[in-house]
Amino acid sequence: MSRVIYNTATTLNGFLADDENSLSWLFVVPGADEAESDFSGFLTEIGALVMGSTTYEWLLEHESLVEHPEKWFYGGKVSFVLSSRTLPVVPGADIRFRSGEVAEIWAELDEAAGENDIWLVGGGDLVGQFADAGHLDQIRVSVAPVTLVSGKPLLPRRIESDRLTLDAVRKAGQFAELVYTVQSGQ
Ligand SMILES: NC(=O)c1ccc[n+]([C@@H]2O[C@H](COP(=O)([O-])OP(=O)(O)OC[C@H]3O[C@@H](n4cnc5c(N)ncnc54)[C@H](OP(=O)(O)O)[C@@H]3O)[C@@H](O)[C@H]2O)c1
Repeated sequence: MSRVIYNTATTLNGFLADDENSLSWLFVVPGADEAESDFSGFLTEIGALVMGSTTYEWLLEHESLVEHPEKWFYGGKVSFVLSSRTLPVVPGADIRFRSGEVAEIWAELDEAAGENDIWLVGGGDLVGQFADAGHLDQIRVSVAPVTLVSGKPLLPRRIESDRLTLDAVRKAGQFAELVYTVQSGQ
């Protein structure tokens, strides 16, 4: 059975990106290399990943993926992009654009992941949609020593301590990595 895991970096006060979708605050934090090495191990367990269109468009632009599809980091895994719009495709990548309720795409996503796990890349509301549907098993956050006044929220849902169990804490450079198991709210 695949686990559904939300793995992301966040500011100390719960933002994924600033209001302009910039991650400049993240890339200057010391210790990203240590966090990266752990991330490679995480990625080997992933069979499929899901992201929203803002995240996908950020990757397209930031990595110039249409011109440089070899930079697509997730080759060999099925990537689902949730969007109501038609977006450019990274040539050669297995990217499936879907729209609608989590329940409508769940069977296809679960099958695509096979025996491996599903990575929810973000953003926060997308992860909230999976939580609402009862498909969120683990949250792994790398907390950066940064606060922002405002930005894109980590997880704009109310999930209280009766549903979250802290399983692991690790220091990676200046990041604090926290792993929580999520109990179903249904
Ligand atoms: N700190 C980190 O490590 C990290 C991790 C992930 C993301 N990020 C950043 O955080 C920001 C997240 O942006 P965001 O909050 O706007 O979230 P997002 O999930 O990337 O994008 C949201 C958009 O996805 C589409 N969408 C979401 N759910 C859908 C559904 N069920 N059906 C159809 N379309 C759906 C909608 O746009 P349309 O329908 O108009 O396409 C929606 O406005 C980005 O800047 C990203 O780069 C940072």
